[in-house]
Amino acid sequence: MRNSRIVGVGHFVPDQVVSNQDLEKLMDTSNDWIIERTGISERRFFDHTKDTCANMGARATKMALERAHVDASEIDLIVFATITPDYMFPGSGVLMQRELGLDKKTIAAIDIRNACSGFVYGLSIADQFIKTGMYKTVVVVGAEIQSSALEFSDRQRHVSVIFGDGAGAAILQASDVAGKGILSTHMHADGTFAEELYVRDPGSSRKREERLTADMLDEVSIKAHMNGNLVFKHAVVRFMEVIAEALQANGKTKEDIDLLVPHQANLRITNFIQQKLQLDESKVYSNIQRYGNTTAASIPIALSEAWAEGKIKENDLVCLAAFGSGFTWASALIQW
Ligand code: ACO
Repeated sequence: MRNSRIVGVGHFVPDQVVSNQDLEKLMDTSNDWIIERTGISERRFFDHTKDTCANMGARATKMALERAHVDASEIDLIVFATITPDYMFPGSGVLMQRELGLDKKTIAAIDIRNACSGFVYGLSIADQFIKTGMYKTVVVVGAEIQSSALEFSDRQRHVSVIFGDGAGAAILQASDVAGKGILSTHMHADGTFAEELYVRDPGSSRKREERLTADMLDEVSIKAHMNGNLVFKHAVVRFMEVIAEALQANGKTKEDIDLLVPHQANLRITNFIQQKLQLDESKVYSNIQRYGNTTAASIPIALSEAWAEGKIKENDLVCLAAFGSGFTWASALIQW
């Protein structure tokens, strides 16, 4: 059976570094609180004069293509994961297609909005298209501009200290080498908790005259609502379950994992998983300290950096795992 392999990974982060000390000037928070609760020291914020969600995705894709020695013209499909798209519609996938000069080729672009699980969901979608033989080369992108939606106020401080901007990409290609590539993907969702981590407005199910009102600018309903404690409790359980599911489906054990790349939600969540799985610290990748939580972009940025640092080598068993809004959660096991 045909497999899909990740042949290149890349990322792009904006230049502007925003430290915890910078945030201290904007609201009642402290470097100590942020580091203790989240592990984050700094994050990147985009520059509206040059960075867009789609062009950050394109820049990450170009790095991934270069590293893979693959030409952009070989791409058959774009899968673009974001919850902070450039427009309400169309999705950022078509904008990235244009940015890469692939509009003449009219390749398909799929946008998915599965928040922090978006990249792993996207990987699963790409893997299915390659396995069925429909496409040979697919790019999966996770890109987010969170900073323009954050409110730097005391009422939103538990949310706004966490998130940052960036993009990451992976190029998948069909391969006939047995036992290599994406071994399996597993996706789950539980809509019971949809409103525990969400942005309410401007939602379509409001009465027409209430859909977008001037009052909303002062309400938190246009900002992210996060029940942090509940998210934490579910995240640690679901991460463990979906990693176990991936290992079991492939007859592997946690000792076989060479590198675990979890969604960079919060360093406390990552440390909990690492300790529960009794994995050496060197086998669990973290870069949330430098970028904060970049939602769908966090796993591909981490993958790209881990690969560049030589932490992912040919034949390594790499496990990706994500949990986020929805709630949704997912994993992918990859024999690199
Ligand atoms: N600076 C200083 N104090 C703060 C801040 C801040 N930025 N934010 C909240 N506080 C205060 C609160 O006001 C509260 O004070 P009080 O005790 O006087 O009322 C106190 O800190 C504790 O507040 P909690 O909201 O209970 O803070 P908690 O300890 O739960 O930490 C956090 C918040 C970090 C969000 C935590 O709930 C968490 O880690 N949740 C997991 C969710 C997560 O990681 N989300 C990331 C995005 S979602 C995802 O990627 C899956």
